Amino acid sequence: MSETDFTATGLASNSPVSSRPVSQKKIFVKTYGCQMNVYDSARMIDVMAPEGYAETSSPEDADIVLLNTCHIRERAAEKVYSELGRLRELKAEKAARGESLVVGVAGCVAQAEGEEMRRRAPVVDVIVGPQSYHHLPQLVARSRNGGPAVVETEFPLEDKFESLPAPERRKTLSRGPTAFLTIQEGCDKFCTFCVVPYTRGSEFSRPVSRILDEARSLAEAGVREITLLGQNVNAYHGADAAGRPATLGALVRALAGIDGIERLRYTTSHPRDMNEELISAHAEVGKLMPYLHLPVQSGSDRILDLMNRQHTAETYLGIIARIRAARPDIALSSDFIVGFPGETEADFEATLDLIREVKFAQAYSFKYSPRPGTPAATRDEQLPEEVKTERLRRLQALLSEQSEAFNRACAGKRMPVLFDRKGRAEGQLVGRSPYLQPVHIDDAPAELLGRIASVDIEEGYANSLRGRLVETEAVHA
Ligand code: 5AD
Ligand code: SF4
Repeated sequence: MSETDFTATGLASNSPVSSRPVSQKKIFVKTYGCQMNVYDSARMIDVMAPEGYAETSSPEDADIVLLNTCHIRERAAEKVYSELGRLRELKAEKAARGESLVVGVAGCVAQAEGEEMRRRAPVVDVIVGPQSYHHLPQLVARSRNGGPAVVETEFPLEDKFESLPAPERRKTLSRGPTAFLTIQEGCDKFCTFCVVPYTRGSEFSRPVSRILDEARSLAEAGVREITLLGQNVNAYHGADAAGRPATLGALVRALAGIDGIERLRYTTSHPRDMNEELISAHAEVGKLMPYLHLPVQSGSDRILDLMNRQHTAETYLGIIARIRAARPDIALSSDFIVGFPGETEADFEATLDLIREVKFAQAYSFKYSPRPGTPAATRDEQLPEEVKTERLRRLQALLSEQSEAFNRACAGKRMPVLFDRKGRAEGQLVGRSPYLQPVHIDDAPAELLGRIASVDIEEGYANSLRGRLVETEAVHA
C-alpha cells in the first residue's frame, strides 16, 4: 500500500488535553508508516479512553507511550530501537521523580520482532501486533505487574473491529473534514518482496453495515471526505445485509448515498482486483474522486513475474485505458520498486517506458529492501546499493517531472477544494483538490474551513497549487 511518511507525533493538535483535570492519565502515540497505522493509532487511543486515558501530544506528559510501527521497508526496526533508547532515558527520569511510564510497541515491527524485541529492549512493557490492539487495556494492566514485556502477536480469530468502541463512543472520530476508514485488512497475494501477508495476516473485510454506520457517524462529526483503507482495498468482499459478499464498487455506491459525505477515495489497490464494477463506479459515482493509486512496482514482465504480481505491463496499461475511458479526468498514482534482485538495465528501462506511457500525477518510489522471511530476500542476485541509488535517482527525476507538469497544467482550471487547515500566512487557508494537491488561497474567510468551495487555480508548483476563491459560487457544507 502507499506510504506517506506519517511520522507525525501525537496526532491531534485539537484534542482538548488542556481542559482535562491534572490527575487525568495520558497516552502518547507516535505513528510510523501508512495511513492504516494512522487509523489504528486513533483506534488505540479510543480503546484506552474508557480506562481513563486522554491523548497527549507530549511523551513527557504521558503515562503510556506507544510506538505504532511500520516494517515495510528498511531500517524500520532500527528506528524503533533508537526511539526506545530515548524512551529508556525518559522512563528513568520519570522513575527518579516517582512517576511510572508504560512503553508499548504496536504495529508491524512489533509483529515481526516479537520475542526478539523483548530480549533486545527491556524498556518495553507491551508488544502488540496489529490484530490485537483491542486487547491493549488488558495488556497494559498485565504489564503493571512488572517483569518482562507482555507480548501479543498472535492472529486471533475474533474480529478486532467488532471489539472496538462503537463510532459514537470514539474520542478520535474526527480531526477535521477528512477521515480514514479501514474497510479491509491483510493480504493473501504474497508478492515476493512484501512482509504485509506475514505481519497483517490474511485478508479480512468488514461487513457493509458496520462501515456505513461508521461513515454516518463521521458525517455527523463534520467529515466531508472519507478515504477507505485496506492493504488490498479493491479485494474488498465484506458481507452485505443479505450476508452475500459485496464488492468495493457496491460499497462505494452505498457510501455515496450518505448525506454530508461529499468525497470518497480508496487506497491501496491491486491491478488484479480492478474489476468492471469498480471501474464503472468511477464513471457513475460523482462523489468518487478522480484520483487512483494503483501500484505497478515495475514495467518489466520478467520482474513482475519474479515479484509474483500476477499481471504483465500490458495488462496494467489495459486497466489504465479502461479507467481513463470511464473517467477521462482521472489522475493516476503508483508505487515503484527499483533494484529488485536480478533487475537488469533493460528491465529498469521498461519501467521508465511504462511511466512515460501512463504519465503519473503522483508516485512513491523505493529502493528494493530485503525483508527477512520474504522469498525475494534470499535470492542470489541482490543488486549493489550504488545501482539501486542511481536507478532511483533517474526514476524519481522522471516522476517529479511528470507530477510537476500535472500541477502546472492545473493553472486556469476551476476546481472544488475542501478546506481543511489554516495556512502559515494570516488569512491563508489550505485545502485539497480532487487530485489531492494542497491548494493555497489568500484572504480566505475562516468559515470556509471544513467546507468545499470552487477555486480558480492561478498557478501550479512542484507540490502544490495556488488559487483564488470563485466569488459568485455559494459555499456548500
Ligand atoms: N522494498 C522496497 N519497497 C517495498 N514496498 C513494499 N515492500 C518493499 C520492499 N521490500 C513498497 C511497494 C509497496 C509500497 C507500500 O512499499 O512499492 O507498494
Ligand atoms: Fe504486499 Fe503485494 Fe499484498 Fe500489496 S499486494 S500488500 S505489495 S503482498
